[in-house]
Amino acid sequence: MLLKVSGLSVAYPGGTEGHVLEDVSFSIDEGERVALLGANGAGKSTLLLALLGILEAHSGSIEVDGVLLEKKSLPFARRRLGLLFQDPDDQLFMPTVYDDVVFGPQNYAASPAEAESIAQRAERILEKLGILHIKDRMSHKLSGGEKRLAALASVLIMEPGLLLMDEPSAYLDPRARRRLIALLETLTEAYLITTHDLELARNLCGRCLLLHKGRLRADGPASDIINDKKMLEECGL
Ligand SMILES: Nc1ncnc2c1ncn2[C@@H]1O[C@H](COP(=O)(O)OP(=O)(O)O)[C@@H](O)[C@H]1O
Ligand SMILES: [Mg+2]
Repeated sequence: MLLKVSGLSVAYPGGTEGHVLEDVSFSIDEGERVALLGANGAGKSTLLLALLGILEAHSGSIEVDGVLLEKKSLPFARRRLGLLFQDPDDQLFMPTVYDDVVFGPQNYAASPAEAESIAQRAERILEKLGILHIKDRMSHKLSGGEKRLAALASVLIMEPGLLLMDEPSAYLDPRARRRLIALLETLTEAYLITTHDLELARNLCGRCLLLHKGRLRADGPASDIINDKKMLEECGL
């Protein structure tokens, strides 16, 4: 089991609204593709932050590869899970696309030989995502679609077991969105995508989780959940 979440409740420090997530339980297996659906404010982003240990659980537990998430296992969990931020500008901070892509692995590189293989890996991933030609461009001058793919490259190069993506189709025009969906279709990593893009969920994910006001309302085959118009409407979708 890649990820196991049991009875998770989370509140923001100093938040006045009580628990933002309440008693959430689910698990994700190797190679699974799961959509996390929910209206604005349902708690999707909060759940991703909790999985990375950025927000602390008030109760319940999170296991990554069978290892309980706690202070001493944080570095391990954060290498197994890779987060694609909702806003690529939060992820890209180096002068060029290439610098951003190699930044993560270079922090772990132990030898010049390893640094060389990082350069090759970076080129391979940029090529796979179709953005090798922009590797020397400045991140802040890219289009929305290019930024999204550059951010994705910087996550993929860390070879996460489970990719967490926060509304990856947000801010994209239809063409960039279609291109992203086609690329995500080719990935071999397991992923959890937060979205209210039902078509994206239907195209990419066999399974959906539905969050409503911090509680897990449904967990099942994507076709069942996306076809349940009444339930989606009740949950603000
Ligand atoms: N930094 C924060 N401090 C306090 N409350 C927050 C914070 N961020 C989000 N919230 C609250 O948590 C709830 C869930 O938000 P969020 O996880 O961002 O929802 P979603 O990603 O599904 O739109 C909302 O009620 C929101 O107001
Ligand atoms: Mg969000």
